[in-house]
Amino acid sequence: MATNRLELKNVTKRFGGLVAVDDLTMTVEPGQIYGLIGPNGAGKTTVFNNITGIYRPEEGEILWRGENLVGMTPNQVVARGIVRTFQTIRLFGEMSVAENVMSGRHIRSRQGWWHGIVHTPGSKRDELENWKKVEEQLDFFNLSQYAAVPAGSLPYGIQRRVEMARAMAVDPTLLILDEPAAGLNDAETLQLLETIFKIRDRGITILLIEHDMDMVMEATDYLTVINFGKKIAEGTPDEIQRNPAVIEAYLGSEDDDE
Ligand SMILES: Nc1ncnc2c1ncn2[C@@H]1O[C@H](COP(=O)(O)OP(=O)(O)O)[C@@H](O)[C@H]1O
Ligand SMILES: [Mg+2]
Repeated sequence: MATNRLELKNVTKRFGGLVAVDDLTMTVEPGQIYGLIGPNGAGKTTVFNNITGIYRPEEGEILWRGENLVGMTPNQVVARGIVRTFQTIRLFGEMSVAENVMSGRHIRSRQGWWHGIVHTPGSKRDELENWKKVEEQLDFFNLSQYAAVPAGSLPYGIQRRVEMARAMAVDPTLLILDEPAAGLNDAETLQLLETIFKIRDRGITILLIEHDMDMVMEATDYLTVINFGKKIAEGTPDEIQRNPAVIEAYLGSEDDDE
């Protein structure tokens, strides 16, 4: 039986002359909370875009349960249980919170889009199942009271929760989070941390990009650090915090921080 392991092997992604991801190898084991960190512009989001089928790397393999994801479309990757959130919020502002969470489900529906127009017994069953999943996630993320509220009218911290609920409604095996704590206050960050642990306790593997160092060190079991697209270190949070190359990379980039 294939295990839910994600393996990047010598992945390289170029944009013209710029090597955004440079010969990157890393392995995310099932059940881990795995961190990918590095200074601004290091290539973290590009790594996620390569995994999720938004970009195609020029070199290397991205193996998920032993299957190479390179060349797949984003929908094909989602269909394999890999779901992500984005660094900047991408909600449908006019749509209700519940509809936003539902929009995640529709990507993975067994039935085609036409079933939304032509109602069949099968599509009814699917819709019922979908709403059940949406309700579950609204409850899990403490969003039930906002179900009917347009997502765009809600405070930023709550919108971030809606995004995670939408991703979770797709039933991921691997959840990929791009800077989920960005823009959150301390209380919201703490709440996010608890949520991440709860998601992991459900058996879901988490791959996390995060700028907030305290948060990363608290949350993760294992980390890879990249700079200029290249891996400069990997290890447990303790090992990473003591690594001279990591300290150097972060001190050297202090000017970039807000
Ligand atoms: N679509 C693109 N076209 C050209 N350059 C890009 C594109 N996406 C990212 N880059 C460049 O790749 C590098 C890595 O970007 P990114 O992955 O967003 O970094 P990070 O997420 O670590 O801050 C940056 O220099 C960025 O400008
Ligand atoms: Mg980024």
